[in-house]
Amino acid sequence: MGTLDSKVAIVTGAAGGLGRAMTEGLVGAGARVVGVDLAAAAEGLAAMADRLGTSFMPCVADITEDAGAQAALACALEQAGALHVLVNNAGVGMQRINPRFASNPTRFWQLTPAQWHSVIETNVTSQFLMARACAPHLMQQGWGRIINVTTSYFTMQLPGFCPYGPSKAACEANTVIMSQDMAGTGVTANVLIPGGPADTAMVTDDQMWPDRSKLVQPRKMVAPLLWLASEQSNGVSARRFIAQLWDESIDPGAAATLAGAAAGFC
Ligand SMILES: NC(=O)c1ccc[n+]([C@@H]2O[C@H](COP(=O)([O-])OP(=O)(O)OC[C@H]3O[C@@H](n4cnc5c(N)ncnc54)[C@H](O)[C@@H]3O)[C@@H](O)[C@H]2O)c1
Repeated sequence: MGTLDSKVAIVTGAAGGLGRAMTEGLVGAGARVVGVDLAAAAEGLAAMADRLGTSFMPCVADITEDAGAQAALACALEQAGALHVLVNNAGVGMQRINPRFASNPTRFWQLTPAQWHSVIETNVTSQFLMARACAPHLMQQGWGRIINVTTSYFTMQLPGFCPYGPSKAACEANTVIMSQDMAGTGVTANVLIPGGPADTAMVTDDQMWPDRSKLVQPRKMVAPLLWLASEQSNGVSARRFIAQLWDESIDPGAAATLAGAAAGFC
């Protein structure tokens, strides 16, 4: 018996580095997971379905569009018969604009309007559309989790990190608003971040990070995610948890205290 046996989760960006690790962690803990990703990642989703079996339901959708967000929700409710946890993880980094984004940064005036819109839509609009689609169902059942992946505060303000930094600052602020808007409903909203550059396809600049073993490994996201997705975190909302600081050798409640702080910018 896993700790999340009766739970159904949606993980967006499930075929990516952090999404795949979090999906595997949730399935390993007994949850059923709808893994959402773009058509370009369909092969990755199919490989996950082969490996994870019927606990994993792939859903090809572009969640920058409301139709994609609604399709993801329908997949959970129709195929799994329930939804308890939304992991808003899909995103794109500065690599969409410049693969050498850290060692040879692009300045804000060098961006095209299309590049700005593309990152803002992928990172900010998709989290909003997914939360907007799922929140009414979660509130109606009186229990649920919205877990938004943002980034470290320093990354939000790093020179050359426009529009990624501002996009994640918006997601951070929106988590606090979501939490307050849903207060008293049994549905919480929290932030979960790796706590540094992670070993995924987003971190392309090998001049800056030649030794990938020094990057945060995606599996570090799993322990805090499992605690956040469980009944043990009931009532915990508007917090941000840093996976890199999560001590897996101690009680998860104590680990959450050490790795957590208020979300947002107060
Ligand atoms: N890698 C890092 O260093 C790091 C650090 C802090 C935060 N994050 C955040 O973690 C999250 C996951 O990133 P990752 O590092 O695993 O990157 P990744 O590129 O490996 O995965 C991102 C996934 O999101 C999917 N995706 C993108 N746009 C989508 C859309 N419109 N609809 C559906 N799916 C879409 C991609 O296809 C991909 O599979 C992102 O939100 C990212 O900003 C990453």
